Amino acid sequence: MHKFLERSEKYYFHYPFPVTIVGAIHDGRSNFMAAAWHMQLSFDPPLYAVSISPKRYTNEIIRESGAFSLNFLQFDDYKLAGLVGRTSGRQCYKEEVFDIKYDAGVKLNVPVLKSAICCYECKVVDRRAYGDHVLYVGEILGIHYDSDYYKDGISPDMLLYAGNDMYTHAEGALAIFGKTEVEDFLKSKKDTK
Ligand SMILES: Cc1cc2nc3c(=O)[nH]c(=O)nc-3n(C[C@H](O)[C@H](O)[C@H](O)COP(=O)(O)O)c2cc1C
Repeated sequence: MHKFLERSEKYYFHYPFPVTIVGAIHDGRSNFMAAAWHMQLSFDPPLYAVSISPKRYTNEIIRESGAFSLNFLQFDDYKLAGLVGRTSGRQCYKEEVFDIKYDAGVKLNVPVLKSAICCYECKVVDRRAYGDHVLYVGEILGIHYDSDYYKDGISPDMLLYAGNDMYTHAEGALAIFGKTEVEDFLKSKKDTK
């Protein structure tokens, strides 16, 4: 039976969701934070948004640098999400404390994590407050991906955030249901009439 809440202080009922590591560099100093609130907005131009609380140090850095990277990880690297997602760059220099290795972006001054299965280099094209977070819209100017990982175009064990400091992954479950299958389904419905 469905229960109904008119309001909930926090709502995570739509999780799990991929977690991304937001990276940014300003004045030669890098910072990283975990983010589960992000989404693809457009193919042309390629736009991707991430929602960042104004309390985050990352918010200050991106405001200054006008650019960020979004780094997606494999499940095995879940500890990095916890490490950068439960500490602030105001208290520690995460790159050093957590020994974070990255390359320089090709198009932008953003960090590209060596452990990322894919990384989007994003230039900020819009920034707007929504409630208690700020939505940064980035135009993707470059995509890095591990071609060994993306076999057959799928990412079987991308790191997902399940909420409450729990991490999971897709465990290889794969169902194909596209245009052909939908057409077959509609045809079978017609045939049974
Ligand atoms: C898995 C996970 C997901 C998170 N998602 C977000 C998010 O989408 N937006 C956000 O503002 N903070 C999010 N956080 C919290 C920030 O990562 C956290 O506050 C971090 O310490 C900020 O670091 P900073 O102060 O160095 O920017 C998340 C934390 C975790 C662990």
